[in-house]
Amino acid sequence: MKKSKYIINTITPHRIVSVLLISGLSIILTTCTKHVASPDNCFNQSILPVFIVNCAQSGCHDATSKRAGYNLTTYDGIMKGIKKNHALQSEIYREIRGNNPSMPPKGYSKLSSRDVLKIKNWINFGAPQDNFCSDCDTTLYGYTNRVEKIVQTWCVVCHKPGNTSGNIDLSNYSGVASAIKSNNNAFLNSILHAPGYSAMPKGAKLGDCEINAIKKWISGGYPEN
Ligand code: HEC
Repeated sequence: MKKSKYIINTITPHRIVSVLLISGLSIILTTCTKHVASPDNCFNQSILPVFIVNCAQSGCHDATSKRAGYNLTTYDGIMKGIKKNHALQSEIYREIRGNNPSMPPKGYSKLSSRDVLKIKNWINFGAPQDNFCSDCDTTLYGYTNRVEKIVQTWCVVCHKPGNTSGNIDLSNYSGVASAIKSNNNAFLNSILHAPGYSAMPKGAKLGDCEINAIKKWISGGYPEN
């Protein structure tokens, strides 16, 4: 009894007003933070790799197979399934979201929740192609400040414990180092699309900026930092 009396006493009109003000303010704040310019909104560096490594295997949504009419290796191809500013009305987002997404199909791993959120925010931000991209920084070519991020973005989906394509695990430094040591530097030759090596990542080529950073790091002895 005492407790409910206390609650009733505390709900005075001016408290209600301040509660409304505070919740209004937090709604405005959360809406704004969603629309902060972020490198995650850079299409080429952040959004395209998610589609290429997860959706563009041969037989699926690569430039040749175009299953269901979708080539998910280019901006224009991806935009066919996107309604700018409206993730929930975008076919592509509807396919990949939730606990039981219909894409990627059964037997393939789901997108990470971080990638799904990234795509959602990018669509709601207007699905820009060139905005918020960082210029090529040629001074960054260490393992932890650069190479690891490139490999995580472009390679690890297919080269991690549980999915070690070609018996290669690139999810940590020692795996990357052994791919450099093996088969006459298969690691570098595969991303250069050199003859005699499987071209990596499948269905795309890294940009010059990424390739040059990896080359510099390898020619400096590929230290683990
Ligand atoms: C979509 C899945 C996929 C992605 C993404 C991918 N790989 Fe591969 N990788 C494979 C498969 C499968 C093989 C086994 C050979 C084959 O089927 O081509 C392979 C083989 C390799 C090989 C051995 C190549 C050879 O000729 O000896 C290297 C090295 C390699 N990958 C590195 C990478 C790197 C580096 C990246 C990221 C830049 C990457 N892979 C991204 C699936 C992938």
